[in-house]
Amino acid sequence: MKTVLLGVTGCIAAYKACEVVRGLQKAGVQVKVVMTGNATAFVGPLTFHALTGQPVATGFDWEGPAARVPDGSGGAGDPIPHITLGQSADLFLIAPCTADVMAKIAGGIADDLLTSTALAATAPLMIAPAMNVHMYENAATQENMAKLRQRGVAFIEADDGYLACGDVGRGRLADPDAIVAAALEALAAKQDLAGKRVLITAGPTIEPIDPARYISNRSSGKTGFALAAEAAERGGQVTLVTGPVALGDPDDVETVHVETAREMLQAVEERFDGADIAIFTAAVCDGRPEAFSPRKLKKGADDEALGRIELVSNPDILATMGARKRPGQVVVGFAAETEDLEANAAKKLSAKGADLIVANLVGEGRAFGTDTNEVLLVSSEGAEALPLMEKTRLAAVLLDRLAVL
Ligand code: C5P
Repeated sequence: MKTVLLGVTGCIAAYKACEVVRGLQKAGVQVKVVMTGNATAFVGPLTFHALTGQPVATGFDWEGPAARVPDGSGGAGDPIPHITLGQSADLFLIAPCTADVMAKIAGGIADDLLTSTALAATAPLMIAPAMNVHMYENAATQENMAKLRQRGVAFIEADDGYLACGDVGRGRLADPDAIVAAALEALAAKQDLAGKRVLITAGPTIEPIDPARYISNRSSGKTGFALAAEAAERGGQVTLVTGPVALGDPDDVETVHVETAREMLQAVEERFDGADIAIFTAAVCDGRPEAFSPRKLKKGADDEALGRIELVSNPDILATMGARKRPGQVVVGFAAETEDLEANAAKKLSAKGADLIVANLVGEGRAFGTDTNEVLLVSSEGAEALPLMEKTRLAAVLLDRLAVL
């Protein structure tokens, strides 16, 4: 699902932002709202909170309770909301945007949460200005708009007409439908994987001990599922081979459910040769119980067997496929490490025949089961650290890299 971060600034047209929220939601887009203090004088944060079901960001924690939504869900507790917000969206849309906020963004000023978010955002920025005609035509405003355009900011032109102040001319916020249409066009999935076949492994594997018990791990499958959904949206023909997870099958993806490492290997072997890109996110169990007991082992009678479960190694699916890679195929592995991230990832890159290793630190609540991840991309060209971002955004950033390989 795409996410738009909607910035609302202090202007009489702020109420029209509610219609923008609705229009985007109708198109299946998730909307999060960040407001300036002035905007909250025109429309209450609670309105946006109720419309979006999301916390509304109105200020930094240290600005005190006034900076939060009345129900206390104004992002309280996040010490760096400007980073989190701007990096968790696919588009940062500011509608309406006052002359003042536009000037600040053009000048790199970040003196509140909204403008700090604009400065920190990795998502593309789109601005729908709204102001008095004389403010709009003022040379300073025009210069700021030109500067922002040059930097790649997209504009939704203000309309001509009667303005709230009684003047007539340009400055009226564009029609909410036009704003929604422009945002949707900007969000439209790139089709850069059209014609490409993408194979992805995800989730944990489970290795049975007896009919009731198994060995497994904490993998949620979220990264692999996000990659599969994003690759399909970009036109890829996607197969997802997954161990047991609590996630629904992604749309337009052939999803193959397996349990054990050996079943996963078999499903991958059958499909690997046809794939252009293979991404191994699965947390495959390194070992499995040597013996499977067809009857449930009993406390007491089977204490010895339960107390000493012998493990044998599972096949390394990535390494097996990496060794079989044909020219032109792109193979990506993941590495979850508790220490020496870069060195361990570099070792895995060559040992497993991968083109890229996506490495992250685990433990202390990081990565496993969470919605965010902070990774290091390690390839033969070196290492690149990506900032902390949502797994859905990480999927998009990763596929951006792979689509051009
Ligand atoms: O060796 P390690 O488990 O850290 O390697 C992680 C990478 O190798 C991941 O991409 C994972 O999906 C893959 N892997 C695999 N089969 C295994 C073990 C790991 O495909 N048995």
